[in-house]
Amino acid sequence: MCLRLFSWLLLLFCLDLFRRELPGAHADSVTLPSAAKTLVWGPGLETNIVLPARFFYVQAVDSSGRNLTTSPGENTFEVKMVSPVEQFTRIWIQVLDRKDGSFLVRYRMYATYTDLHIHILLKNKPVAKSPFILKGPVYHEGCDCPQPSGPVWEADMHCPQSFPQIERDLALYASVDPDRNAQEIPQRFGQRQSLCHYTVQDNKVYVRTFGEHVGFRIFMDAILLSLTRKLSFRGLQARMCNIFMNMQECSSLI
Ligand SMILES: *[C@@H]1O[C@H](CO)[C@@H](O)[C@H](O)[C@H]1NC(C)=O
Repeated sequence: MCLRLFSWLLLLFCLDLFRRELPGAHADSVTLPSAAKTLVWGPGLETNIVLPARFFYVQAVDSSGRNLTTSPGENTFEVKMVSPVEQFTRIWIQVLDRKDGSFLVRYRMYATYTDLHIHILLKNKPVAKSPFILKGPVYHEGCDCPQPSGPVWEADMHCPQSFPQIERDLALYASVDPDRNAQEIPQRFGQRQSLCHYTVQDNKVYVRTFGEHVGFRIFMDAILLSLTRKLSFRGLQARMCNIFMNMQECSSLI
């Protein structure tokens, strides 16, 4: 009887050991990221790509150079931002685990800082070429700091040379008469719909609304105001002057 009990206990003990060993064995087979090999890229590492929220990516790579395809844990990488000329920086930072071995880092600045240093750390070791240094004034979303030159802004933002689909669509029209549009569009669409006519003049945004349901204009207002803080439309008046938005489309999307 005693012997039987003993062997039962032994068996349980062995089972328990076995069970405890499993997680350890599992951990060995999960590859760990390497700070030196991990990849970091994206627009949020460039001074002049000013966006409401700036962002960049981190792809975990192991010491043999293979990309991780599962999450190494959501707190694997630590991101800190400092400016050498400021004691405190007010920046909201979010490191989003995409669960496929990569991370999306988003940050939103509440002030403009000079020479922003972005530190990306893996167990206190600098990742890739960390710290990434954004030189010069790094503007925040609310800064009224428009780039005066359209071509410079387009180059800063890495805009494509052309948008083939838009060009194909507009190729149907030999010429566009903005004055005629400004008259005819409200007549044809301004009665029962929710039409907004925006004009950008002297880099200020003006709006005239037609129809009842124009509350959705807040989205377009926000986009245009954000753009005029980043780019001066003064030189582009002739092309940019009139913008029509039919808000009916927005309301059916939402
Ligand atoms: C690893 O991921 C990066 C970023 O997505 C990609 O550019 C690269 O080609 C991948 N490398 C391999 C070996 O698959």
